[in-house]
Amino acid sequence: MVNFEYYTPTRVVFGKGVEEKVGSLVKEQNGKKVLVHYGGQSAKKSGLLDRVFASLKEAGIEYVELGGVVPNPHLSLVYQGIELCKKEGVDFLLAVGGGSVIDSSKAIAYGVLGGADDVWDYYDGKATAQAALPVGAVLTIAAAGSEMSNSSVITNEKTLIKKGYNHDILGRCRFAVMNPELTLTLPEYQTACGCADIVMHTLERYFTADTTMEITDSIAEALLRTTMENARTLTREPQNYNARAEIMWAGSLSHNGLTGAGGGRGDWATHQLGHELSGLFDLAHGAALTAVWGSWARYVYKQNPARFARLALNVLELPAEGSVEELALAGIEEMENFFWGLDLPISMSEAGLNLDDEKIHELAVRCSFDGKRTVGGFKPLAQQDMEAIYKMAK
Ligand code: NZQ
Ligand code: ZN
Repeated sequence: MVNFEYYTPTRVVFGKGVEEKVGSLVKEQNGKKVLVHYGGQSAKKSGLLDRVFASLKEAGIEYVELGGVVPNPHLSLVYQGIELCKKEGVDFLLAVGGGSVIDSSKAIAYGVLGGADDVWDYYDGKATAQAALPVGAVLTIAAAGSEMSNSSVITNEKTLIKKGYNHDILGRCRFAVMNPELTLTLPEYQTACGCADIVMHTLERYFTADTTMEITDSIAEALLRTTMENARTLTREPQNYNARAEIMWAGSLSHNGLTGAGGGRGDWATHQLGHELSGLFDLAHGAALTAVWGSWARYVYKQNPARFARLALNVLELPAEGSVEELALAGIEEMENFFWGLDLPISMSEAGLNLDDEKIHELAVRCSFDGKRTVGGFKPLAQQDMEAIYKMAK
């Protein structure tokens, strides 16, 4: 095992009706003037936004609002949010939505107090934020795990570059209000994308070059089995509250560091490969991951076939037949079958992207920062490896 730090300061308030508490939660954090940040229309249409405003009013908290966050959230709206916060003297950010809204809120929070002239510098690796406004979240989709993670991912829509910025202290939400009922209005596709992302956050940590801890491996395997079982349930019964609740909690646990404790830095190549597809083609994050995961897995499994075989046995519950390599490959196929069962793409063409070799080369150039970086902890991948995987994922 590897030494680790585990820091999860986010206060989780979970269950039916908990959004009514948001005003008092902000008050507890000494928020006096709030920016309520949200997405396109779902939170308005469902009445959630009105309930949030009412709760803030009841707690005597002033607020301004900024909607319009899109999936793969844009840098331009972050700039707008920063200006608005400065003009209005906002001292607390309340994200009402999913990963995109929470990430956009975190970016605004860095932008107001971080110290750099341009908030993109943090994402571009040119600066470190010195401070940030506090952020709280009312979660409406179980997926990205931003409500408990240290991360925020933003797309610079001028260059189509999508990049993340992680900050272990400043990048965490103060609280996460999680009512699984709020996810009952999700379209099937978004539910499926969310479930895939939860699975992927666990797999990215499971496949690590380091030796791991049995307790962490077992938690990860239980989380994967539970997420997959409930994801399947939701394809048949989208209104099943218990399944929604299991998935929502799994989403937070899959990305708050729990399933990586003691396992080192994990892999994360699939996320980096996927970010290029989302940045360039605006593909939903979960679908971008499933489109490349199987190809990544077949490309790297020889690095440690026993690890893939363990996944096949303990998570995909395949019979212990054949060689370790055969079992590893059978497990990869079974995981793809799971994604397929959720109606998610397992190749780029299934995701509607029919890319020629030139475009695939461009993806690899972008993902490797023009050959300047490798991605992946399980097996480090250089630009030519990325290109080979994208080709396999055609
Ligand atoms: O904008 P609205 O109308 O709200 O619609 C959203 C959006 O179209 C809709 N939606 C959300 N809640 C809903 C709902 N529709 C009906 N009912 C509800 N209750 O769902 C769509 C997707 O929302 P989004 O916030 O984009 O989803 P998700 O949570 O998957 O976030 C994806 C973003 O998070 C990043 C991804 O890269 C992507 O940009 N990630 C963030 C991470 C982090 N900060 O730790 C880690 C992840 O790996 C990921 O990279
Ligand atoms: Zn993800």
